[in-house]
Amino acid sequence: MNAPNPGIWAKKFPELGTDPVPVAPYLSSEYFELERDKVFKKCWLKVARVEEIANSRDYKVVPFEFAEAEVIVIRGEDDQIRGFYNTCSHRGNKVVWQTGTGHAKGGGLQCRFHGWVYGTKGEVRSVPEEGAFFNLDKANCGLTPVATDVWEGFVFINFDPEPAQSLTEFLGAMGERLAGFPYGTFSEAHTYRTVLNCNWKIAQDAFSEAYHVNTIHAGTFPDGFSTELLDVQLLGPHHSCGVCKLEGGNPPPVASLSHRFSTASIAKKDLDNESMLPPDVGNDPRHAFELAVLFPNYLVHILDGMYFTHQFTPIDVNHTLWEGVQYFAPPKNAGERFSHEYGQVLQRNAWLEDTATMEDTHQALKSGAKSQMHLQDGEILIRHLLHAVDQLVNAE
Ligand code: FES
Ligand SMILES: [Fe+2]
Repeated sequence: MNAPNPGIWAKKFPELGTDPVPVAPYLSSEYFELERDKVFKKCWLKVARVEEIANSRDYKVVPFEFAEAEVIVIRGEDDQIRGFYNTCSHRGNKVVWQTGTGHAKGGGLQCRFHGWVYGTKGEVRSVPEEGAFFNLDKANCGLTPVATDVWEGFVFINFDPEPAQSLTEFLGAMGERLAGFPYGTFSEAHTYRTVLNCNWKIAQDAFSEAYHVNTIHAGTFPDGFSTELLDVQLLGPHHSCGVCKLEGGNPPPVASLSHRFSTASIAKKDLDNESMLPPDVGNDPRHAFELAVLFPNYLVHILDGMYFTHQFTPIDVNHTLWEGVQYFAPPKNAGERFSHEYGQVLQRNAWLEDTATMEDTHQALKSGAKSQMHLQDGEILIRHLLHAVDQLVNAE
């Protein structure tokens, strides 16, 4: 089906042009090194939800292979969340040996190698055999801090020791647009994570258009979504749009049963005029969910009753760590539990369909057969990501 109003987004955003886009930024090692240094080491990157580190001394260790670094974010006794490199001040071992969430018992984080202990502010609390050291200035032996801030319960870090913008400034109008959604009530998280053998932008692009729904998702969402985008917003380097549901779809019986008990709805806003979506989001009756991308690599999709996210963190030019999470409110009864499980499995299948394209795209492009890609109007977010990355890569 042809999308209506062909060229609507190109007309709205003429600065992005309509030419084919180059393949080189997806494959070039030199380009990736610039992305690493000028994008990923300079921008705010999401590392956690506050619910993951809900209590004092809860922490999460997150690896960033592009930076050859691990970051610990930890909630202090003062409730403040701080970030540090996971690198011991003694001989540089990892203070915490496992990635993921944990809880620092007693005095704090203890390095397993020789037992130095750090408090939640990164300070050295104790050093075994301290008297055997030479003029050890413990006050200057704390963990190395990483800039850390929180927006709407999402914890972000920045590898720049002095970020050019605060997190609020960085998110700008997109932060305002997405604020107020009750993210914190959706505390039941289902996570999928794997390494994809492709460039991070190839992976992200596959979640940035609806052009593929009739082909890739013909099995999972038959007649579910339109290829049309609603209300494309390009706000600084960030962008969002509405994904459309298809009217008159005929869901299979088990899907209808699941919808009956669902606490999430892609049809709520126009059914009862009550919505938890922020005021500027989802005001077209065809709106199914909002597809927002917090530059560079965090996708936040919100709809009434749940949200889901994707993050595509580069490992190197050819490899990407993907993490997809579905966030529900804890179910209150068996019907809701069934509906969550059904929705989760359906989404998992769709995500497998999406991720299955990515490695093939990367591999086929590596052949060198093509130097350009041809983007249609509904692939404006792909064009914008390339543009936003390019602006930073080429900045002085
Ligand atoms: S390296 Fe951490 S205590 Fe020695
Ligand atoms: Fe998809």
